[in-house]
Amino acid sequence: MAELGNLFQSADWKAEKHVPVIEAPEKVVKGEFFTIKVMVGKEIPHPNTTAHHIRWIALYFLAEGEKFPYELARCEFNAHGESTQGADTSGVYTDPKVSVTIKAAKPGKLFAASLCNIHGLWQSFQEIAVT
Ligand code: FE2
Repeated sequence: MAELGNLFQSADWKAEKHVPVIEAPEKVVKGEFFTIKVMVGKEIPHPNTTAHHIRWIALYFLAEGEKFPYELARCEFNAHGESTQGADTSGVYTDPKVSVTIKAAKPGKLFAASLCNIHGLWQSFQEIAVT
């Protein structure tokens, strides 16, 4: 039986359109806010249609030496062209890009997760040094 953690896929984001791409500084100053951007489809655009789209992105931080991650943010993308006229008729689409500002007292690891409605769960990570 599969476990949830094993259902997350990962790959090189430059070659695989589903991977959430994290843009964050590699080194930050303790206690000072910094901004993290997470997006799907940076190099290869992911489809954004009523039938096929990115549903959400979530961002977590695992501080060094701690057992459990902190959830920093979750963002749902809820407009994918649908309207009373049918699929892909509204012209309204949310793009799967988010910006989150945080501060941290310890170094750690950012984990981004995303969901494509037909290609499942995807993940990526980035280490953050704190000085
Ligand atoms: Fe997909």
